[in-house]
Amino acid sequence: MSESAVKNIDGQVYREVLGHYPTGVAVVTGRADDGEHLALVVGTFSSVSMDPPLVSFMPMKSSRTFDRLSRCESLCVNVVGEDQQDVVRTLAKRWENKLDGIEWFASPSGDAVLADSVAWIDTRIRETVEAGDHLIVLCEVHDMAVTNPVSPLIFHRGDYGGFACSTPA
Ligand SMILES: Cc1cc2nc3c(=O)[nH]c(=O)nc-3n(C[C@H](O)[C@H](O)[C@H](O)COP(=O)(O)O)c2cc1C
Repeated sequence: MSESAVKNIDGQVYREVLGHYPTGVAVVTGRADDGEHLALVVGTFSSVSMDPPLVSFMPMKSSRTFDRLSRCESLCVNVVGEDQQDVVRTLAKRWENKLDGIEWFASPSGDAVLADSVAWIDTRIRETVEAGDHLIVLCEVHDMAVTNPVSPLIFHRGDYGGFACSTPA
C-alpha cells in the first residue's frame, strides 16, 4: 500500500487503541566501541522464526541508544520478569550510562544480562527495515537460555503487571 493510501489516524486514537494490546517487556543490551554497556527497553520484541532462529524488535528511528546498538557486534535480548519493574522504569528514563548501579552478568557474547531476568537471547543483527517512524530489526539467534522462570513483566494500558494463568494448577 502506498503512503498516500494509508488512512490518517489520529495519534491519540492510535495510542489508545493499541494500548489495549498487551506486550511483554524486553531490554536489549550491547557493548559500544568505547566499552559502554548500552540498554534499550522495548515492548516490541517478538519471536519470528525457529528455522533459522530469528527474533525481532522495533526501535524508534529517533532512538539514540539504537543508533549505538546498531553498530554493536552482538546484542542480547533480556526477557524481564514481573519483579524487575523498577529497573525497567529506571532504564527507560536514563539517556546514558543506563546500567550504572544496576546488577548484571555477562552473556556468552559478553553483553549484559540484568540480574533476575527471566531469559536471555544472544543475537546478531541480520537486517534492518524502515517502517514509518520505527525500524524493524531482524536478529539471528546465536545462544539462549531461561535463567529465572518467573512471571514475565507485562505492559498494558500504560501500566505494568504480571501474568496469571487462568487454568487451575
Ligand atoms: C514498556 C516500554 C516499552 C518501550 N518500547 C519501546 C520500543 O519498542 N521501541 C523503542 O524505540 N522505544 C521503546 N520504549 C522507549 C525506550 O525504552 C526509551 O525510553 C527511549 O527510546 C529512550 O530513548 P533513547 O533510545 O534515545 O535512549 C519503551 C519504553 C517502555 C517503558
